[in-house]
Formats: sequence, structure tokens, C-alpha cells
Amino acid sequence: MLENPIASPADSAAAGQTHEFAMHFALRHATLAPSSHNSQPWRFVLGADRVILCADRLRALPVVDPYDRELIISCGAALFNLRVALASLGIGYAITLFPSSADADLLAEVRLLHERVTGAELAALVSAIYERVTTRHPFSPEPVDTAVERHLMDAARAEGVEVACVSAAEPRYAIAEFVAEADRQQFADPRFRRELAKWIHPHHTNDGMPAYAAGLAPLLDFATPLVASAIRTFDLGGGVAATHRDLAAGSPLLLCLATGVDDAQAWLAVGQALERVLLVATLHGLCASYLNQPIEIPELRQKLGALTGLPPAYHPQLLLRIGHGTPDAATPRRPLDEVVS
Ligand SMILES: Cc1cc2nc3c(=O)[nH]c(=O)nc-3n(C[C@H](O)[C@H](O)[C@H](O)COP(=O)(O)O)c2cc1C
Repeated sequence: MLENPIASPADSAAAGQTHEFAMHFALRHATLAPSSHNSQPWRFVLGADRVILCADRLRALPVVDPYDRELIISCGAALFNLRVALASLGIGYAITLFPSSADADLLAEVRLLHERVTGAELAALVSAIYERVTTRHPFSPEPVDTAVERHLMDAARAEGVEVACVSAAEPRYAIAEFVAEADRQQFADPRFRRELAKWIHPHHTNDGMPAYAAGLAPLLDFATPLVASAIRTFDLGGGVAATHRDLAAGSPLLLCLATGVDDAQAWLAVGQALERVLLVATLHGLCASYLNQPIEIPELRQKLGALTGLPPAYHPQLLLRIGHGTPDAATPRRPLDEVVS
């Protein structure tokens, strides 16, 4: 059970009155988390003084994510935002991970406490929740300050997740080639293309990826179905691979999150570490996006670990590129009444 570290007694009646507001505030922040394909694969079951975060496996991506690994990671990111939002209000909480041995979809129970807390380190991240977006454009070659790199590593480790940072040119180029190879393999599979195309939505829908998030001008939003159709129909792997190779090679920092075990507990921790790293990066004026393709192909996954310098026993979970850039536009989210029951 995780508890906020610094708790002090307080007026329980006043704390009770604020719980309803706090829960709404925290859930709103939770839903701003990143998720694979913006699938938002979470549900929240609300009680008087608690909320249970559940995996919504109806929103799974069986081709790219057959074991729901990224689905649970996405839910972990939502859980981290919830923690940050509660900390920013000074509301104490206790978390039980996987509260039911009978139902693997119940990922975390967050119980609000009557004690006030001062979780300053988490609270300081709350403004970044609104600013953080995935930025798929090239970054400037300006290096990431080594002190900031250390903060990013500390953020991952604070959540119990291992991290490797790669900034030297030679390993970055090797990883970039690896990403390109993974793109070619994924795009050659019509099932992968069909699944990806299914989640490319015009921006007025409230989930999926608008084409503008991948670089299409917002005014061309009407062309989104054409983009989806092209992805579904043609093997664009060669072009996508070249683009991602250049993005990876041209980004000043690649960051790989990894765990010693590869199970649902580890994935939930990775999600929290991911969001903590992203929020710290955002506070330092950095942008980030994902190069997970080699991790999504079992034969490439362990080799990627070696390329990033991780010890052989570690399982790579996510590969990010980080640098200075112009943040992309925000993507839509489902309203709370669709995800809270
Ligand atoms: C576990 C996970 C895996 C992701 N994988 C990729 C990816 O491989 N490529 C990519 O461009 N974006 C990836 N994303 C980013 C999502 O597409 C993005 O979070 C979503 O579209 C919402 O947009 P936002 O991050 O700007 O809020 C991933 C996000 C998560 C949480």
C-alpha cells in the first residue's frame, strides 16, 4: 500500500466536504494521461471516499499489444496523474494496487484520507499535466542538459523503474536503424495497418489520434479519413521507417524504461514512471514522443535492451525520444461521464 509520505491530522469534516471536489479534479487530470493510440483504456468506479481504476479491455489493441502491456502502462499513467492532482490539493490518499485477486481488471484502489498532506514533489508537477503532449515533429539538435537528464532518470527510478539514457551519436544511430527495421516489419502486416487506421479519427471525436497530431495541418482535418484509408490500404512502411529513423537519429536524447520482471504489476509501475518522466521533461521545457516499435516485436525487444546499455536481465518497456521542440496541439479526451461509473 502506498501512502502519501507527510500526513498531519486535520479537521475531518472539512476534509470530507472537499472529497467530492477533489475526486472530480483528480479524475479530470487522470484522463489527460497519454495512452497508446489515444485509446484511453480506463474506467473509474467511484465510491463515497474512494475510486477504483479499472482496465477497459474493450479498448485493447490486440495486434500491436496482444498482452495488454501498453494498455496497463496507459492506465498507470492515468494513476500517476491522479496522485499528482490529489497531492496538489493537499489531499491524503492510500493506494492498494490490484485490490482483487479475483478480477485482474481492477488495477488500483485509491482511498481518500482525512489527513492533509504536503507531497510537494508530486504537487509541483500538476501544471505540466495540462501542458504535456506527444510531439512527433523533429527536435532541435540542442543537447538535453545533463542535470535535467539526471532528473528524468530520478523520476523513473522514484517509481521503481529502471532507465537507460542514450545521447552519444553512434548508439543513437544504431537504435534509429533498429526502429526503422521494426517499422518495416509492422507496416508489412495488414492487420497492424488496419488496427492503426481504426484509431485515426477527426478531432471532433473524443478518442483516437487526429491526423494533426501526426503533422497534418489542422485545417486539413477533413482529410483525416483519407489518411486512415491510405494507412489501411498501402504498405507505407518504407516512408514511415525513413521518417522515424531520421527522428530517432536527430533527437538529442533517447530514453528507455525497463523492468526486471514483465508482468502487470511492472507495467502499472512503468505507466507511472512514464508520466513522471514526461511531466518532469515538460516542466524543463522539453518535448517527447515514442519509438516503441522495436519493443512491440518480440525478436527485436531484447536486442534493443542491449543497444541502450541495459543489463541483459531487464525487459525494455518504452522507448522515448526527448529534446527541444515546438509542442504539437493537444488531442481530445472522452468526457468524465463516459469513463466514470
Ligand atoms: C504506452 C504508450 C505507448 C505509445 N506508443 C506510441 C507510439 O508507438 N507512437 C506514437 O507516435 N505515440 C505513441 N504513444 C502516444 C499516444 O499516441 C498519445 O499519448 C495519444 O495519442 C494521446 O496524445 P497526447 O500524448 O498528446 O495526449 C504512446 C502512448 C502510450 C501511453
